[in-house]
Amino acid sequence: MASKTDWFTESRFGMFIHWGLYAIPARGEWVRSVERISVERYRQFFEEFNPESYDPRKWAKAAKNAGMKYAILTAKHHDGFCLFDSALTSYKSTNTPCGRDLVREYLEAFRAEGLKAGLYYSLLDWHHEDYPHYGDANHPMRDNESFKGVSHNFSRYLDYMHGQVEELCTNYGRLDLLWFDFSYGSLCGEAWKATELVRMIRRHQPNVLIDNRLEVSGSGFGSLATKKPSEYSGDFVSPEQIIPPKGICREDGEPIIWEACVTMNNHWGYCQMDKHFKPADMIVKKLVECVSKGGNLLLNVGPDAKGNIPDESLAILDSVGCWMSKNSGSVYGCGVSGLAKPEFGRITRNGAKIYYHVTENHIGFIPLEGLSKDQIKSVRLLETGSELQIASGWITDNYPDMAFVSFGDSPLLPNPIDTVIEVELKGNI
Ligand code: GLC
Repeated sequence: MASKTDWFTESRFGMFIHWGLYAIPARGEWVRSVERISVERYRQFFEEFNPESYDPRKWAKAAKNAGMKYAILTAKHHDGFCLFDSALTSYKSTNTPCGRDLVREYLEAFRAEGLKAGLYYSLLDWHHEDYPHYGDANHPMRDNESFKGVSHNFSRYLDYMHGQVEELCTNYGRLDLLWFDFSYGSLCGEAWKATELVRMIRRHQPNVLIDNRLEVSGSGFGSLATKKPSEYSGDFVSPEQIIPPKGICREDGEPIIWEACVTMNNHWGYCQMDKHFKPADMIVKKLVECVSKGGNLLLNVGPDAKGNIPDESLAILDSVGCWMSKNSGSVYGCGVSGLAKPEFGRITRNGAKIYYHVTENHIGFIPLEGLSKDQIKSVRLLETGSELQIASGWITDNYPDMAFVSFGDSPLLPNPIDTVIEVELKGNI
């Protein structure tokens, strides 16, 4: 039976975009908290913010060419700055020299490229006067004595937060995803009035997918991993900076939908000094690893203060796109194979099609582990569609039931990143 999550598990690969005022200090999106920057000192970035090069159509093309099927942009991050024209605050992009509703332009551009588009919304808000300051675990003023004893009307903050989420749900057309971030300590679940919030969201956006962070952070799965998920458990689990060793299942063993969110370097928001980018071949292998374990990969880019995705990120996306252009059939709509992970790589599966991802050069023939010859209808090199004949002869005689194939005389893989063998089964084993 069709489900509203079908497009998500079919897509497997998305773009996360962390962008905002913090691109100016260029030390990551937590810079206010880490450096305990006052709201007054941070204001200089608000008064300066004018990303002249911002062209989300370029971002959308880069995502599409990389083989990504959806994207999520930070509409508001922890610093409270809104990239959209909210009627509930003056702390928004339309009031900066930029003067633009950045969210609206992003949604239009990504939809125009045929991608699904969603928004990240921070539950934390370090700008709002009614969000806890002194003694909070994360607030930039958490240990500033001048805020000790200051009262905050948290209920008023929740009205603001719910009101902004309703603005996003009613003023920007169909949203495909809403990605909340994050619950911590006592601020989880009903502390956010999560049931009321989710009911409002689902009233306006019945098809939107919601993450699980109204209950947890990147740590913890939340009640979605139990047999009694709450009304605000969300639709998928969001492991962060990790690929779950064995995928993610409910307590009764049933697999659940999950999406690993991962940075390209070590920061979500733009960080000038962080040049520790993951190479493209690694990204391909990690995407395949996620899919082989039944999950999605949400890969992050952090545009700079001008509105440009860093060149390093663009180069990686372009290389990943080259591989995806010939091998996406082993990613889209694929998932757990039910076969043991082979020595030489990984296996993904889509019904009667099984994809062996060979990422190591191999001595002689490659064993199609887990299958017997009589189960196989055809074997093809996915990139070219060419037949890979099942080997026979003295070298494989010791393994009469196992099918072996060869890529030819070279000891090197046809595609050094990941050479994919597509096996079509005679039946759906
Ligand atoms: C963490 C960070 C936040 C980032 C998020 C992405 O929650 O606090 O900065 O947006 O991870 O998953």
